[in-house]
Amino acid sequence: MFSGRIALVTGGGNGIGRAICQILARDGARVVAADMDHAAAQDTVRMLNGTPASGEPMLVIPVHEKIENNNSPHDHISLMMDVTDKASVESAFSAAIDKFKAPPSLVANGAGITRPAFLMQMDEKAFMDVLDVNLKGTFLVTKAAVAALVEDDASSGAIVNISSLAGKAGTMGQCNYSASKAGVMAFTKTAAMELASIGVRVNCVLPGFTETAMLDDVPEKVMKKLIKITPLNRLAKPAEIAEVVTFLLSDKSSYMTGACVEVTGGLGM
Ligand code: NAI
Repeated sequence: MFSGRIALVTGGGNGIGRAICQILARDGARVVAADMDHAAAQDTVRMLNGTPASGEPMLVIPVHEKIENNNSPHDHISLMMDVTDKASVESAFSAAIDKFKAPPSLVANGAGITRPAFLMQMDEKAFMDVLDVNLKGTFLVTKAAVAALVEDDASSGAIVNISSLAGKAGTMGQCNYSASKAGVMAFTKTAAMELASIGVRVNCVLPGFTETAMLDDVPEKVMKKLIKITPLNRLAKPAEIAEVVTFLLSDKSSYMTGACVEVTGGLGM
């Protein structure tokens, strides 16, 4: 499905970003796993190459259908990228272009953080740090991706941003995160309008509660409540989010742009 395509995934070192990398590689893309945690991104690439990272199971996604492709292990690379830093973003794109002699035409903006606190206890730094990674990071990476495509005279591209149900409905103790994710939705729609004429589609996914390190600090009692209010009565697996992200990156969604797709197990419908 992605044969001959180059895909760059931010936050590719962990969780949902790693699962996106795995599905893209399974389906034939050459993958750039970009993350501020470079060791984690390197582990992702080791997994894509069939070598388990120490102590981890090799497959964290169910491989429904193994699609044969001609990629060799060396077709996947990891890069250190801090999405909040324009120079870091641009140098990672340059490194990817140096390696593949073409820019990534598929980009998933998966890097994200939380810094929870109730509004009246939240300091300015916690508010701005979250906006910087989740919203400004999406802007910087999208801009660098599109600049590289235009420079290359590319005729098509697809970008998928990761928002959250929190961006639609708000969430207690996370006014910074909710605001950043609402921003990602509005950013997605505007980018979709502006970039359609150059053949670049931009969509976003709103995951519900997903089994990743991001939920590690949520107390067990709260976790149980979250599962109880979710109609499908469980958390999402990262791969269940990644399958929708990769659908939106693929030509199967060729008539979709500016869409914000909820993958929430029915929560918040
Ligand atoms: P995760 O914590 O497992 O992975 C996030 C990745 O982003 C990490 O590898 C981290 O190193 C990277 N990252 C953080 N700051 C960065 C920066 N400045 N530059 C580059 N990389 C950076 O989290 P998860 O759950 O996989 O999150 C992926 C996306 O999904 C995030 O945008 C998150 O907000 C979103 N999401 C997650 C949900 C969940 O329940 N896990 C629910 C809704 C949305």
